[in-house]
Amino acid sequence: MKPDTPSLDLASIGDEQLSRLSRGLIGSEVLRIAAEIRALVAEGHTVCNLTVGDFDPREFRPPDRLLAGVQKALAGGHTNYPPSNGTLELRQALTRFLAREFGLTYPVESVLVAGGARPLIYATYRALVDPGDRVAYPVPSWNNNHYCYLTGAEGVPIEVGRPSGFHPTPEQVRTLLPTIRMLALNTPLNPTGTAIDTAALTEICRDLVDENQRRHARGERPVFLMFDQVYWSLEFERLRPQSPPVLCPEVAPYTVLLDAISKSLAATGLRVGWSVASPAVTQRMSDLLGHVGAWAPKAEQIATAEFLDDAEAFHAFRGEMQEKLRARLDRLYRGFTSLAGRGFPVEAVEPEGTLYLSVRVDLFGRSLDGRRMENNEDIRKALLTGAGIAVVPFQAFGLARENGWFRLSVGAASLAAIDQGLERLAAMLARVQA
Ligand SMILES: Cc1ncc(COP(=O)(O)O)c(C=O)c1O
Repeated sequence: MKPDTPSLDLASIGDEQLSRLSRGLIGSEVLRIAAEIRALVAEGHTVCNLTVGDFDPREFRPPDRLLAGVQKALAGGHTNYPPSNGTLELRQALTRFLAREFGLTYPVESVLVAGGARPLIYATYRALVDPGDRVAYPVPSWNNNHYCYLTGAEGVPIEVGRPSGFHPTPEQVRTLLPTIRMLALNTPLNPTGTAIDTAALTEICRDLVDENQRRHARGERPVFLMFDQVYWSLEFERLRPQSPPVLCPEVAPYTVLLDAISKSLAATGLRVGWSVASPAVTQRMSDLLGHVGAWAPKAEQIATAEFLDDAEAFHAFRGEMQEKLRARLDRLYRGFTSLAGRGFPVEAVEPEGTLYLSVRVDLFGRSLDGRRMENNEDIRKALLTGAGIAVVPFQAFGLARENGWFRLSVGAASLAAIDQGLERLAAMLARVQA
């Protein structure tokens, strides 16, 4: 006989009973689109899914050596808590990695390890920014609007466009510097796949240092730079990354560098990230994350330390990742440029790295199957239902303007799926009416 189970009235709690903070949270747009794709696929439609900022392990696997290292560490009994700031071996390995790949010498006290880059971004905001402080970031960019909301910061979006490679210009930043507590940069950029110009980044760093000299003289707190470089190793043409402390060593005390194995080693699910900053900043970020408990699993830390110490293995894997990403991004880019050459209202930005391509599909005011397209969401839906291509509008990255730009991500797409998607797109565009 089945035991009686009490009925639990869980539906009596709704949003209205929760905190003001959680009631105001905006859910992930990408997850909403993902649910739509699942429904279409369940109905039997073919969809080329270019939405997720993740890797499908059938297309992109982490290095075998890293996976074997995790298994070995688990079998060896490393199943307990790691030190809350990361194992000493990994933090030491990361100082060697920074010296080898970037030419930067940091003390081990500068390095903090956590479960991916995300907790470290949150900790950076929390450690440096007070509620009401202003944080400037480009739009489109990934999640800065949400981190501002979470920390009570006033977000100062810098609208960027194609002429500056979708990065802020020194002029845009200069006017804001006296009024902000933090500037958040990421290169190559999610969602655009474009890298910041080295001279522009150097100038921004110098201006930040100048601003801080003035603040120091007035006894004021400095402006900080959060520099998210999680995609640096996936930048195609550059061997040595463009990191602020390399370009302008004086900016180092004010800079928090963020990195992870998530993208560089196609290891999004293994959850190892690190930040590098002045020891005082690192200490407070560590205190904060210690309470959150967002550490990286110990076995993953041990395996990551071993893998990153092996320069040959790291460089070989980096080369493989770039080759596979580039093949997919180039295929898409060439597909879009050839459609533009045939007179269709599309454009694409030459990919410079990451897993992302920026494309513009300008179907405003036109109709597909009797439905007029007025905004990005209409165009996105038309691409999904009319061509079986799933993309994410730049609005999901904080951009207010409806300008027809979308992010295409190739981490879960095979070359064959891309080719088929492009064919369906050409057929759909031919059906669009003025
Ligand atoms: C720019 C950027 N930083 C950080 C992250 C998060 O990385 P992680 O998976 O290590 O938390 C992402 C994920 O998409 C990203 O695009």
